[in-house]
Amino acid sequence: MVIDLQLVYGQAQRELAAVDEKMRQAVNTLSPTLREAAEYALAGGGKRLRPLMTILTAKLGEAAVERVVPAAAALELVHLGSLVHDDIVDESAWRRSQPSVNAKYGNKVAVLLGDFFFARALDLARQVGLDAVQSISRVISNLVEGELEQLRRSYDTTITEEEYWERIQRKTASFIAECCRLGAIYSQDNPLAPETLHAYGLNLGLAYQVKDDLLDFTGKIDTVGKPTQRDLTAGVLTLPVIHTLQHHPRRQEIAQWIAGKDYDWTLVINCMQEVGSFEFAQTRAEELIATAKNTLAAAPEREAKTALLSLADYVLTRVS
Ligand code: IPE
Ligand code: IPE
Ligand code: MG
Ligand code: MG
Repeated sequence: MVIDLQLVYGQAQRELAAVDEKMRQAVNTLSPTLREAAEYALAGGGKRLRPLMTILTAKLGEAAVERVVPAAAALELVHLGSLVHDDIVDESAWRRSQPSVNAKYGNKVAVLLGDFFFARALDLARQVGLDAVQSISRVISNLVEGELEQLRRSYDTTITEEEYWERIQRKTASFIAECCRLGAIYSQDNPLAPETLHAYGLNLGLAYQVKDDLLDFTGKIDTVGKPTQRDLTAGVLTLPVIHTLQHHPRRQEIAQWIAGKDYDWTLVINCMQEVGSFEFAQTRAEELIATAKNTLAAAPEREAKTALLSLADYVLTRVS
């Protein structure tokens, strides 16, 4: 089943355009270097998944558009800032199908641009309310803790599946969960409670990162828009690798290869295939998506609900 994301976007088209405009205004600055880099980063596009989720969850009730739009813009700016910083940390030269900010402007400008995006996001959030400011603070703290945990455990083949779930919850899923929680808060008569939509976002977000980690193995730079086959090489051990390290008959040997950074890529991939590690990860993602969809059950049938259900299915089939 291939999900047509355009149909989902269609449900939030006007608000998404307003979010883009809000972001452009928010990063307007007198500094020519900063302005050029900010416009470059914004022009890269991206899927706008996080604002889309805030808008659609708000639309389950009567969306308070004057708060939803700046809140969604603030969240996307935080996301963009975190990607700009992430590419410095990961030494990645390609993002959203164009050279990354660090590749184009250097690490120093990229660090400052990320900071600038965070600052502008906080200002937008301040205009919306304390909930949005607290949300952003939580999102960034979790993200940093998750990323640091990832660094701390790099090349560590004793990592457990439980630690993996904890890490991706912090770095990715709690962000998406907050986007949905705010959608609930900034709407009237929403049939679902903020905690329920938070749970929807959390499950979807976990599946989203599992899929991202799978795409790192199976995707191509031309479709994914960012370099692939990087995680394992960089020592980031993700769900399919953890599965192989636990289940392959030659697991001790494989662990030595990975920890020693000395192995043949194709051989490791073959081992992963032998014990079905990619299918294992895909199945976990499918289960999480089923759980996410279930959390919406109590909402009456509305276009926004259909869109949120499709969005969940899209996570499983996405190729970029
Ligand atoms: C990339 O996020 C980082 C992850 C959490 C996997 P997205 O896949 O939402 O990136 P863009 O915004 O579409 O570029
Ligand atoms: C998610 O992890 C990044 C952030 C939480 C900012 P990844 O390192 O896998 O993201 P990509 O693959 O670079 O987009
Ligand atoms: Mg990265
Ligand atoms: Mg990745």
